[in-house]
Parts: sequence; C-alpha cells; structure tokens
Amino acid sequence: MKNEKIMIIDDEPDMLENCSRILERSHYTCITTGNPLEAGRLFSSERPALVLTDLMMPKKDGMAILRELREIDPSVLVIVFTAYSSVQSAVDAMKAGAFDFISKPFSADQLIVTVDRAIKQKRLEEENRNLRTQIETTYGMDRIIGSSMAIRKVFELINKVARTDANILIYGESGTGKELTARSIHINSNRRDKAFVPVDCVSLSENILESELFGHEKGAFTGAHISKPGLFELSDGGTFFLDEIGKIKLSIQAKLLRVLQEKQFRRVGGGDLINVDFRVISTTNIDLNRAIAEGKFIEDLFWRLNVITIEMPPLRERQGDIELLANHFVHEFSRKNKKDIRGISGEAMAILQGYQWPGNIRELQNVIERATSLTDSQYIMQSDLHENMLDHSASLEQIKSLPFKSAKRKWLESFEKKYFSDLLKDANGNISRAAQNAGIDRKTIYRLMKRHGLDI
Ligand SMILES: Nc1ncnc2c1ncn2[C@@H]1O[C@H](COP(=O)(O)OP(=O)(O)OP(=O)(O)O)[C@@H](O)[C@H]1O
Ligand SMILES: [Mg+2]
Repeated sequence: MKNEKIMIIDDEPDMLENCSRILERSHYTCITTGNPLEAGRLFSSERPALVLTDLMMPKKDGMAILRELREIDPSVLVIVFTAYSSVQSAVDAMKAGAFDFISKPFSADQLIVTVDRAIKQKRLEEENRNLRTQIETTYGMDRIIGSSMAIRKVFELINKVARTDANILIYGESGTGKELTARSIHINSNRRDKAFVPVDCVSLSENILESELFGHEKGAFTGAHISKPGLFELSDGGTFFLDEIGKIKLSIQAKLLRVLQEKQFRRVGGGDLINVDFRVISTTNIDLNRAIAEGKFIEDLFWRLNVITIEMPPLRERQGDIELLANHFVHEFSRKNKKDIRGISGEAMAILQGYQWPGNIRELQNVIERATSLTDSQYIMQSDLHENMLDHSASLEQIKSLPFKSAKRKWLESFEKKYFSDLLKDANGNISRAAQNAGIDRKTIYRLMKRHGLDI
C-alpha cells in the first residue's frame, strides 16, 4: 500500500515537515503546501490519492478546501486535522464529506494508522469499480460497450437474431455503432467462419458498384482483361454488409432485389448462373419509408432487407453509458499512445455527461483521443476538452449533485452565454440593436461577451 501520493495542506511549516517526514518513512510520497489558496490547483495537477488538511487556516479554511476539492473530484479522500477541543468541527467536516479526522496533537502512529486505513479503503473502492466495469463490459457483446437499458435491448435482439438467417436492417444516426453491431451479429452467427463483406454504397459510383457486386467476365467492358468474381460471390456462405443502403441508385436496387429473390445471378458480361447464399445486413441513417414514398427506394427491396429492424439509440438517450464508454476510450488511447492516463476528472466527466453528442459514439471517441494526446496530467481535465463542448455543459442532471452555490453559478453562466449568443445572432452582430432588444446598455453587452468569449 505504499508509494501513494499524499497532499498535505497546513499553514504551520512545522506540521508540514513533521507529517511528511512520518509518512515518507512509511514510504508514502508527500506534496505539501502552506498556502490553502493553492490547494485546488495543486490537487488538479498532482492528483494525490489522499489529502490531509488543517481546518483552521487564515486565508481559506479546511471546509472550503474540502468543498472545492469535492467539486473537482467527488470521490476525493480527505482527512482533516482538528483542534483537540473542537469536536463539532470534526463532525461538520465528516458531514461535508471528509473521510476521517485526526485531532491535534497526534502521534506518528495515529497518523499512520489513519492514513493507512483511508488508502486501504480507496483501494477497495477502486477494485470494486474495476470489477463492476468488467461485469458491465462482459455483458456487452464483443467490443460493444454499454449497460444502459437502451443498449441492452440491442444486445438482446442481437442474441435472438444472430443465429437466424433473417436479413437485418440497422437504423441509426451516424456514429451510433451500426457497423460494430453488424460485425457483432456476424461473429455471433453460424456464418462466422465465412466472410463478412462490407460494401460502402456511398463511395461506390453506380458503374463501379454494379461490376463490384456482380463481378464481370473477361471482355465485359473496356479494361476488363480478366474475369473477376464480385462481392456477392465472395460473401457466399457469409454475411453481406450494405452500408448506407439508402444511397443506392434505383437501377441497382432493382438488380439487387432480383438477386435476393432468386439467390442466383450472372456476372456482368454474361456467363453461367451463379448460386449464392448469404445473409444481408444493411444500415441506413435516412428514413427509408419516406424514400419509398418519394419514389427513391423500391418497396419490395425494403421488405426483403428489413425482416428484422434494429434501432441504434443515439448517445444522448443512453447517458448512463457515457462514463463507461469514455473510460473505455481513455484506456484504449492511453495504451495506444503509450501514456499513463488513469481516468477523467470529475469536472471533465460532468461536461461529457451534459453534452448532447450529435456525432454520437464516434464523436466521443474523437474527443477522448484528442484529450488523451493533449493532457499532461494523469487525468483528463476540463481544459483538455474542446471549448465548444462547454457551451452546452450545464444541464440540471449534471449539476444537481454540486453544492448549491456552484450549481447556481454554473447554471447562470450557461444561461448567460446562451442568452447573449442568441441575442447577438438575432441582432446580426449589431451591438446597439442587441442592447436595445435586451434592454441593457452596450457596455454590459461588451463585458458579458468578453466574459463568455463571444464575438460578433
Ligand atoms: N458501444 C460501443 N462500444 C465501443 N465502441 C463503440 C460502440 N459503438 C460504437 N463504437 C465505436 O465508435 C465508432 C463508430 O461506430 P460505427 O462505425 O459502428 O458507427 P456507425 O453507426 O456505423 O457510424 P457512421 O454512421 O458514421 O458510419 C467506431 O470506432 C466504433 O468502434
Ligand atoms: Mg458506418
């Protein structure tokens, strides 16, 4: 249990020196400060396992430090030093979230026993958390992380349909994990030993798409020097994955429908009929019913492809998974970039959880990748996140666990920022007009623009 980092805050230099000497003899590493105003910054950058703080200090008392640190990291472990006579202050500190207290004066043994106990407790909690993550991840399929109700429904559906031969249509906004789900169905199916053949319907133009799908015989068109099997043939026995099916032209849709009905086809340029057996999994992020109504999608093909529908929930509807996913990506990128990043600070996590994620899991993945490469500390901090994520950060859900005053401040800040950016937008950046509309003077507007980093 040694070598853990311990931060000590006390305005008496003697206390700092004695405590760190005792603890270092016990193989702890100590960081000390006599300036309580520095505590928050030091805590953020050093991320100690435990904080020891005096309660009575002139510039800022221990209770205020306790609150500040808990705002940075709600799970912070704090032990307070109290004066022998002041039982009440110890009780108050425990109520405010301190782990334990030691009354002054104390012996070296008392200090070590109390610190050891706190560290042991922290270890236990971390182990529990890891265990929980492991359970949650194994519940997820293969590499699909998640434990929210919304994603569990998807897992259940995958389990139910993977071993059937039914064609599957996966609906979902971009970045929600459609392709990952398709691959997971394949891996869990009886076809797992055969090919999973992905076709990107967006990037293949109409001409290429046809010869790619059907293959061609030698001399079928200029440049066709040899005959070549198409993707249908390659997916025989396996899974044919049509990504963004809504983007296929009508003429190809008709040909695809024929193959699905007859399970046989000829390569471009003639030749023998070729029999194929594959299962189709397709994805779309547009409403195919509407495409049908507009005459852009063949209804029969739709029914062929859509025997079973899987809808991927957007990330904003599975907020409970944000923490799990974010931590998963931190470990992934930390390993990939050979860094030693342990996790995400409480503040940064609150922002991730309050954000709307229009780009869903892919966006979260990108944000974490960027933050892991930017950060200098062992934890991803608020400053490692993109400025524009902070705009939408205050949601009631996210701030309700904060102390009232900071919750109110955050709420007000985000209200002001939104109010004034909308105000400026509506006034086309005309400050006088904005001032008039809001019934305040221009100076106030300039001041608030500056505070919130808004420009015209
Ligand atoms: N539940 C999840 N657990 C872990 N990683 C995930 C999960 N869902 C998606 N991802 C990752 O997020 C990224 C986007 O997923 P995927 O490509 O499957 O989404 P998509 O819906 O096909 O996106 P697009 O519409 O942009 O093609 C991938 O890198 C994928 O590995
Ligand atoms: Mg995709």
